[in-house]
Amino acid sequence: MQSINWGDLTPETFLKEYWQKKPLLIKKALPNFQGTIEADELAGLAMEQEIESRIIAQKADKSWLVEHGPFEDFEKFGEDNWTLLVQAVNNWSRETDQLISLFTFIPRWRIDDVMVSFSTPNGGVGAHLDQYDVFILQGEGKRRWQVGAPDATLTTLIPHPDLKQVSEFRPIIDEVTEAGDLLYIPPNHPHNGVSIENSLNFSIGFQAPSNQDLWSSFADKLIDEELGEQRFADLDRTVTDSPYLLKENDINKIKSFMLKQLDDDKTFSKYISQFLTQSHHTLELLIPMEAFTAEQVNGFLDDDEIQFTPVSGIKSLVCYTPETNLFINGDIFQLTDETKELGNILAGCLPMTTEKAKSFMTCLKNVQLLTSVLNKGYWYIE
Ligand code: SIN
Ligand code: CO
Repeated sequence: MQSINWGDLTPETFLKEYWQKKPLLIKKALPNFQGTIEADELAGLAMEQEIESRIIAQKADKSWLVEHGPFEDFEKFGEDNWTLLVQAVNNWSRETDQLISLFTFIPRWRIDDVMVSFSTPNGGVGAHLDQYDVFILQGEGKRRWQVGAPDATLTTLIPHPDLKQVSEFRPIIDEVTEAGDLLYIPPNHPHNGVSIENSLNFSIGFQAPSNQDLWSSFADKLIDEELGEQRFADLDRTVTDSPYLLKENDINKIKSFMLKQLDDDKTFSKYISQFLTQSHHTLELLIPMEAFTAEQVNGFLDDDEIQFTPVSGIKSLVCYTPETNLFINGDIFQLTDETKELGNILAGCLPMTTEKAKSFMTCLKNVQLLTSVLNKGYWYIE
């Protein structure tokens, strides 16, 4: 994968001036970009039950149509005015997953997935807002993109129960994108992409959990692990003269009782790392029919024709505080001084040759770590 041609910018200046603040179009950011998947392959993915896809079309009377996949055929949608959107294509296409490596200046946990759309002439989803940052890379074709600034006077339109749009906005970017152009749109900036000709767009979407998501999943973690079962206590209680009153002091005590739970750093860093590595879409996990033993995995190392490969789209990270752990797809693998380096490589999600693997395998703990990851189906032998 080539790297982004930033022109006058650098990743540092991009983060300082644009990230979460201003939209940006980088023309020819990837000059020879050909796309990572063909339109007919994308259509094939949209025929699969476990892959989330939608077609959004605007009819001759200007009303909007939304249909959800899996699709059997696309004939009825005609030649123009529609877009096919397929979620998390990076879970099924390794080349598409590799687009994420263009953004290594931002931690991997911040990236969610790569959505790919195919739009016919005049196709688009209408002007709308997204609540997360997105980079949209133009593959084949041309598309007119308009992006505006956040504007509280815009009204929400629901032209179809499954489609949220906004009223017309004043664009600050209004340009035609061609293969290799990269558009950055911060959250809540209205945007609209209308295809000029058959067009493929690759949207690298970022994840920004809401407090609702965080608190509810933290509560699930407490329940699952039977944590936080201790009860509120108030040994220092004194006589009240107004038993009907909930006093500020009591509110604060209950609040600190709750916050103390978050302050448990071990629990919190495990919880948040698990949360951030959970895939929001189906993954093609490759669980071996029969679990490998550590001896078998050791045996593979002499075969330099094979390599160890992570499942496409799998989310991983390492966290060193307060304990050293590797997280893959919401699972925890405890690391030690001996396994930390292998843990980093596994979290990096790049295929590992047997030669590379061999350098770790003098230590049994490393063999065991690799064996567990293979047996979970998160990595496989290729
Ligand atoms: C699309 O590719 O058609 C939609 C991308 C977006 O606007 O979020
Ligand atoms: Co959007």
